[in-house]
Amino acid sequence: MNHLLKLLDLSKEEIYDILNLADQLKYELKHGIPHPLLAGKSLGMIFQKSSTRTRVSFEVGMYQLGGQALFLSANDLQIGRGEPVEDTARVLSRYLDGIMIRTFEQTEVEMLALHGSIPVINGLTDFAHPCQVLADLMTIREYKGRLESLKLCFIGDGNNMMNSLIVGGLKVGMKVSVACPEGYHPSESVLEYAYETGNFELSDNPEKAAADADVIITDVWASMGQEGEAEKRKIAFDGYQVNNTLLALAKPDAIVQHCLPAHRGEEITAEVFEAHAGEIFEEAENRLHAQKAVMVKLMSEKYR
Ligand code: CP
Ligand code: NVA
Repeated sequence: MNHLLKLLDLSKEEIYDILNLADQLKYELKHGIPHPLLAGKSLGMIFQKSSTRTRVSFEVGMYQLGGQALFLSANDLQIGRGEPVEDTARVLSRYLDGIMIRTFEQTEVEMLALHGSIPVINGLTDFAHPCQVLADLMTIREYKGRLESLKLCFIGDGNNMMNSLIVGGLKVGMKVSVACPEGYHPSESVLEYAYETGNFELSDNPEKAAADADVIITDVWASMGQEGEAEKRKIAFDGYQVNNTLLALAKPDAIVQHCLPAHRGEEITAEVFEAHAGEIFEEAENRLHAQKAVMVKLMSEKYR
């Protein structure tokens, strides 16, 4: 594993390796055991979109590993004025030990990896959010004790989160059932992979997707960059809300995950959100541990 661009690139073993290391790093942090595995290393973090969790968890994570992180707003970099990504990649590779990038196009992340000579981590594109889904899988395993053969249900938009959860869930051996309205389906490349596994179903029926689920997951109806479509999407996603009626169809001990930020009253009710806040904020915390594991795997000679 040289980069984390999308979960489609990772094997089942690589995903479990990351989750196991993340558990170990979480344990060490909670018990005051230092782990300066990236001492002297620098991570550049390029942001074309807003962030609370990704920015803070990467920056703090890098500090805890003995390295440093640089926040690079795309508006302030020359890339924002048109410097080609090929050149940015070659320049940054001469200063840094790794790059985390949050942007719109998946191709930009792939180009950065292609033209640079250091590991690149996808911190969210319109296509994928692999760091978030590694944290989600870590959280689900914490609550359920395993991932294999659990039913994961996602209700809502076929966006970066749905794409990555389908791939991540199936790769670790879960059954994945998603419900989304016509016109808001996940990406073709994801569906191609998903249907081949035989453990995937897609419908426009939230009740069917939620039936007997172990985990119910949702995300905003309008992602970053789609703010102008918010009203249209509210109409399209009517009926695709995670509420108590829907949750009653899942297993009685089902957990709820949301990558955050959440829009109460839209994709999830305030009641469901607060009843499952423990799991949701554990998921947010696990961004830190999962990403530290990813950085160690990619940037430490010892672990590569
Ligand atoms: N879930 C997530 O990626 O949060 P941020 O947008 O705050 O980074
Ligand atoms: N789908 C959301 C996820 C935010 C973490 C977005 O792309 O805005």
